[in-house]
Amino acid sequence: MDKELRDAREDYLMGSLSENHVPESPLKLFNFWLEEFKASGNKDHNAMLLTTVKEDNRPASRIVLLKGLSKDGMEFFTNYESNKGKEMENNPNVALSFFWPELEKQIRIEGTVEKLSPEESDAYFKVRPRGSQIGAWVSPQSQKIEERDFLEQRVLFFEKKFEGQEVPRPDHWGGYRVNPNFYEFWQGRTSRLHDRVTYSQIEGQWKISRIAP
Ligand SMILES: Cc1cc2nc3c(=O)[nH]c(=O)nc-3n(C[C@H](O)[C@H](O)[C@H](O)COP(=O)(O)O)c2cc1C
Repeated sequence: MDKELRDAREDYLMGSLSENHVPESPLKLFNFWLEEFKASGNKDHNAMLLTTVKEDNRPASRIVLLKGLSKDGMEFFTNYESNKGKEMENNPNVALSFFWPELEKQIRIEGTVEKLSPEESDAYFKVRPRGSQIGAWVSPQSQKIEERDFLEQRVLFFEKKFEGQEVPRPDHWGGYRVNPNFYEFWQGRTSRLHDRVTYSQIEGQWKISRIAP
């Protein structure tokens, strides 16, 4: 066993979390923690691990960026024909995870995903940098490609194709919204006796519990 890995552990002293002092709405707490992490000046504060379920029931995880937050949930954008796109088409159950070591916090969310409307996807696509808009046309995300030059050639092709005009949103690219039905807020504490507060949606109401670390 690698000694460095075996001995690597932190003691967490920064905060605490009580099931008796959390808001009724998990979204409110989520927002509060997200704002706290954003204010700490860390890079990629909106990066989240998205886990989907493959057709053979095995999970698959990757990072995507949280691009919108509303009362209905968390929004992100991707290629609908990517592996994750196909997985969510087949099975809308997903999980999101956030790990913010600088605050000794973790958030886990479970829920179901739905596509944003074409209008909502258009609105976000319009404000992306032109290079990213072209990129959405260029990359057959998750497909095998022979070499990087394949991408470079396609950049030239689509730059020429859309020269002098706005880049339209490709049909295969757009957003999703995760509607949460479960949240866990984890605050690191000393000696591994961490605080864990969960919110489970039961008959339209959020039920708050403390669970053992
Ligand atoms: C910091 C970071 C942010 C990312 N943001 C996105 C994103 O918002 N949308 C996206 O499709 N991929 C994003 N990616 C790339 C994905 O992690 C992944 O490689 C890609 O979406 C293909 O996943 P799939 O083959 O499982 O569909 C990001 C990667 C990193 C490291």
